[in-house]
Amino acid sequence: MAIINDDERDMLSNRELIGRDEINDYEAIFDLVGVDDGSSSHSVPDKCDAVFTWDYNKGARPKLDKLYEKAKRSQWNGATDLPWETVVDQEAMAVKAYREAGQRPLGEALIAGTQFEKWGEKEWVAFDMEYQNWTLSQFMHGEQGALLCTAKIVETVPWIDAKYYAATQVMDEARHVEVFSRYLDTKLSGHYQMNGHLGLLLDDIVADSRWDMTYLGMQIMVEGLALAAFGFMHSMSQEPLLRQLLRYVMADEARHVAFGVLSLQEIYTDMSAPEIRERQEFAFEAALRMRDRMQGQEVWERLGISKADAAQVTLMDPDRPVFQAALFSKIVPNCKKLGLLDAADGWLRTKFTEMGVIAFEDYEDTTLDLDANAEGTPMERAIV
Ligand SMILES: [Fe+2]
Ligand SMILES: [Fe+2]
Repeated sequence: MAIINDDERDMLSNRELIGRDEINDYEAIFDLVGVDDGSSSHSVPDKCDAVFTWDYNKGARPKLDKLYEKAKRSQWNGATDLPWETVVDQEAMAVKAYREAGQRPLGEALIAGTQFEKWGEKEWVAFDMEYQNWTLSQFMHGEQGALLCTAKIVETVPWIDAKYYAATQVMDEARHVEVFSRYLDTKLSGHYQMNGHLGLLLDDIVADSRWDMTYLGMQIMVEGLALAAFGFMHSMSQEPLLRQLLRYVMADEARHVAFGVLSLQEIYTDMSAPEIRERQEFAFEAALRMRDRMQGQEVWERLGISKADAAQVTLMDPDRPVFQAALFSKIVPNCKKLGLLDAADGWLRTKFTEMGVIAFEDYEDTTLDLDANAEGTPMERAIV
């Protein structure tokens, strides 16, 4: 992320923000592939101040305090509250999905002239399994990003009510990493390294020393997208353990996004125009990175599919823009509520329009979400 302090400067260009001029430059999007270098960890310097507060007045921010009390009442145990005894036959599910599709999954017209033309059931089933391994791996990595970011928010945010709430979220995120990791280890057939675009974004968020940028990057953008993605997968999956796991995680995520909106609303009110512009730019960079991360680059590479073929099926799939846009159904209304869409002559509105996601601006923001306002564990609420 570029940090420029010139009050009079123009908004940064696409190239300055994301390293390319065209947001739909698919060659650039497919060129960035996450690398598994065999190391067991990855370090990011974060240069932030750990802030003590001497104002212990609990409830000074009533909305955050209310969320904290709800979070304490809504904890669940990832080891004992999910039906881990469920038998998951990943291959059988992939075969069933292939046969029910009644045609090649990507459609004849879409695969004409590509490596996929030669694929039969065996290859498509293998692809389906790889794609599921990849998807759940990215969820797991993203959850670890959230774990680190909320631990950092506990350190950096100056308000006691926010420190208290963020502490509950650290526990939530530990649980999320745990359940996705266990699902991958015991129910699926392999792991993937972090996606290249997701990795860049998480590094940027963690490296920024300003506490409100951690909130914007993680609580609003990454978690807003995760909430929508989990909801989509929950609606598509027929596997009962995964459905329950996702539903329980979603119940927590709605609170997390609401925490972000409620906290940033307060601090943005006092920010200068140049400061808000920088937040708009970061929101756009994050949105695009997350859109680009959805292309499954690491799967194509592992299966030996050329970037050109992968790009062709990605570009032309008639369902993909609808799916991709739906992922922004939480992010756009939350950015609007925070005033980020219309500041700087509507710069972010223009960017979201180019991305094809502006239609979500009048959707409900996440502070109104049922889960964010519910109280009690998922078991007590009997959510499925
Ligand atoms: Fe999470
Ligand atoms: Fe979260």
